[in-house]
Amino acid sequence: MSSPKLPGAPFLAYRDQELHLDQINLNQLAHEHGTPLYVYSRPAMLAALAPYQRALTGRAHLICYAIKANSNLAVLQTFAQAGCGFDIVSAGELARVLAAGGEATKVVFSGVGKTRAEMKTAIEAGVKCFNVESTAELEVLSQVAQSLGQVARVSLRVNPDVDAGTHPYISTGLKGNKFGIAHEVAVATYQRAAQLPGIEVVGIDCHIGSQITDTGPYLDALDRVLDLVEAIESHGIRIHHLDLGGGLGITYTDEVPPAADELIALLISRIDARGHGHRELMFEPGRSLVGNAGVLLTEVMYLKPGEQKNFCVVDAAMNDLMRPALYEAYMGIVNTRLSGDSPEVWDVVGPVCESGDWLGRDRSLAVHSGDVLAVLSAGAYGMTMASNYNTRGRAAEIMVDGDQTWVIRQRESVQELFAKERLIQTNV
Ligand code: LLP
Repeated sequence: MSSPKLPGAPFLAYRDQELHLDQINLNQLAHEHGTPLYVYSRPAMLAALAPYQRALTGRAHLICYAIKANSNLAVLQTFAQAGCGFDIVSAGELARVLAAGGEATKVVFSGVGKTRAEMKTAIEAGVKCFNVESTAELEVLSQVAQSLGQVARVSLRVNPDVDAGTHPYISTGLKGNKFGIAHEVAVATYQRAAQLPGIEVVGIDCHIGSQITDTGPYLDALDRVLDLVEAIESHGIRIHHLDLGGGLGITYTDEVPPAADELIALLISRIDARGHGHRELMFEPGRSLVGNAGVLLTEVMYLKPGEQKNFCVVDAAMNDLMRPALYEAYMGIVNTRLSGDSPEVWDVVGPVCESGDWLGRDRSLAVHSGDVLAVLSAGAYGMTMASNYNTRGRAAEIMVDGDQTWVIRQRESVQELFAKERLIQTNV
């Protein structure tokens, strides 16, 4: 029988009809640890990082893993040990980086709504740079830095107004988005930044969206950014680094995104051709480093064939993996054991009380109750977006490397879910 296409290959592969991640049999792992269960391959993450590192060797650079994609401490530890910096969007994410052994001096702090308290924490920790998204934020950051007797290093996140050609919820570089400083006012905002006592301008930043599968939008954004750099420097303001954000897509089904090293080689040749090769180059990849390194394992509970639809009810739900419900995202689903049975068409749905609670629609699968399914490419924006909706504890997470496995997050217990809640005193 033929094996289904696996985006996580070669780390994810069938051996003797059983799905393995590295050398670990996923069906067995699910039975040992229970389901739903997130499983990540450490070698797959490092292999995804390698082309970024290769393409940037020999020039000043920093790869800042965008931790919102997967912020488990062991994942952060893996990237810290590999020399990465981190892109964070909250003081909580900074705390995770430090707890995982990452260095604050390699952290960039992004996001449109940093609080004063977060700014203070990040300045005190000594982060490399704040990616600032508005004049109002710039003024507040300057005040906070001054009150600490310090200067905050800043790059402005400019909005290059290019269409990344991706889902509207994850496209960020267009004029109508809340992100970044509009191209037309960027030079004036840099001039304001240069006047502020608590601010030191160090770079420029853009991030145009996520799950981008084409080099075109990156090159367009780069050109717009380099135009700005030239205009800004003509006013005597020095731009040390270029941060081109994250956003590189992965294969969920039949997308063919450019390889990271191909994309970076193209960007570098444009940067060098325009005479900007001396600047430090930074990237903020998230999904492309972890997405295809992970799967979500879930057990089939009930098969519910119907007149119009066949439902395969599994024990993972939209609270464990929100991407299908939120973006109608397609994520591959396979059985961890191949059988000779003929497939039927199923909607794979969870136990949550919402019609939007589905993981896959119209999937051709040979399934029986008790089988363990793997939702593919679930290493990014899976666990980090999980919730406790329907009072469901979040899944456990496992890291594998070769034949080794580590529980990197225990399954949440129901008691933990309402431990901070209190009954009220009433007279009735
Ligand atoms: N830098 C900034 C400023 C970002 O906002 C993001 C992602 C990244 C870097 C990393 O982008 P990546 O390389 O992962 O595409 N939850 C959505 C994706 C939201 C992305 C938000 N920003 C999803 O599941 O598709």
